Amino acid sequence: MPNTVARQKKLQILIVDDNEMDNELYRYFLQHDATYPYQISAAYTASDARAFLQQHTPDCIILDYHLPDTEGFGFLTELAQDDRYCIVMLTGDMERGLAIRALKLGAAEYLEKSECSPSTFARTVRYAIERHRARQEFLRVSREMDKQKEMNTLQHEFSAIASHEIRSSIASIHMAIALIEKRQSPDVEACSPYLVRIRESCGRIINLVDNTLKLSEIEHRGKIDYQPIRFSLKKMMEKLLEHYTELYQDRIFRYDLTQMPEDFRGDPMLCEQVFSNLLSNAVKYTPEGRSIEIGSAPTGTESFEVYVKDEGIGIPQENLDKLFSKFYRADNARGIGGSGLGLHLAKMLVEEHKGSIGVSSEPGKGTTFVVKLPRTQPRAA
Ligand SMILES: Nc1ncnc2c1ncn2[C@@H]1O[C@H](COP(=O)(O)OP(=O)(O)OP(=O)(O)O)[C@@H](O)[C@H]1O
Ligand SMILES: [Mg+2]
Repeated sequence: MPNTVARQKKLQILIVDDNEMDNELYRYFLQHDATYPYQISAAYTASDARAFLQQHTPDCIILDYHLPDTEGFGFLTELAQDDRYCIVMLTGDMERGLAIRALKLGAAEYLEKSECSPSTFARTVRYAIERHRARQEFLRVSREMDKQKEMNTLQHEFSAIASHEIRSSIASIHMAIALIEKRQSPDVEACSPYLVRIRESCGRIINLVDNTLKLSEIEHRGKIDYQPIRFSLKKMMEKLLEHYTELYQDRIFRYDLTQMPEDFRGDPMLCEQVFSNLLSNAVKYTPEGRSIEIGSAPTGTESFEVYVKDEGIGIPQENLDKLFSKFYRADNARGIGGSGLGLHLAKMLVEEHKGSIGVSSEPGKGTTFVVKLPRTQPRAA
């Protein structure tokens, strides 16, 4: 049925054989196969084939074992590393042992040159392609299932952490209210420690909800809702620090915001979320009476950095490289509430501003986070 054949997508074949006559013969075999239309290309050396593969991904590579510029299975091994390639190995007479090795190294099929007839040749190539496609599909589905499984585990872990975090914050609020009631004192001063506890717990819930909402919005939309305007980063930071210094009076805050840009171009809400996460970590992982330092400095004419430095518990060196991964909590955080979202989100938001975030830390001494940002942000796409 020539019409059916004409409508089918052509199978792209690359024949790699240094013998010109053999190369032509295989082309002839395929061209006379009525099952599929083929688009056939020829290469005579491994380096020819490499050049071709830089531009194209054929459905099948028919590869001669003996090529002038490779030894043994060197080229097959190289090609088999890329699982997009379906390779049919051509071996000479009496080379059955080689053929079996070729299959072990990743060839989908082999053909002994002496046994090649037009029909066996084309059929072997077609079956190899079909098997390769089925295998690709199987790999794709299993990769997706693995990913889904991993996501489910992460979601499960997250639900457990978030529920625990919300429950313990609400329990703390509940307890503080009970203590206030018990005192039955109209004296605000006397109730102050309980009010602080209530505000801290509310802050933890708000932080968790803000981070979760922002991340799920980003994951749902597939991108960050980035709305840059010109604003004073200095004022934003002052307001944020006002909130933190009032709430955490038992930590010593030192800050110098004189170098902080007043006409920064970026998204104010996202920036606030970044620094709020860094400050919430600083207070959470720094014991009472220790200091937290915030400052800014230019890093050339085009960029500046903001640092948040604390004298807290510090982070083990071996945990540092995973610190910005989703849900990751370092070994130092055992027994301290948190969901492992804050830094992951902060990194995404800083990178949306074309900036970077780095950390240095020493267990028992403290931690410094440095956010580097360009002064002028690219416009939103
Ligand atoms: N300033 C800091 N000092 C010590 N450890 C820190 C500090 N900041 C972050 N960490 C470590 O990095 C981990 C990841 O921080 P991240 O802010 O992402 O999560 P979290 O604080 O545990 O939870 P949350 O999502 O509620 O912020 C923390 O669990 C903690 O182990
Ligand atoms: Mg945090």
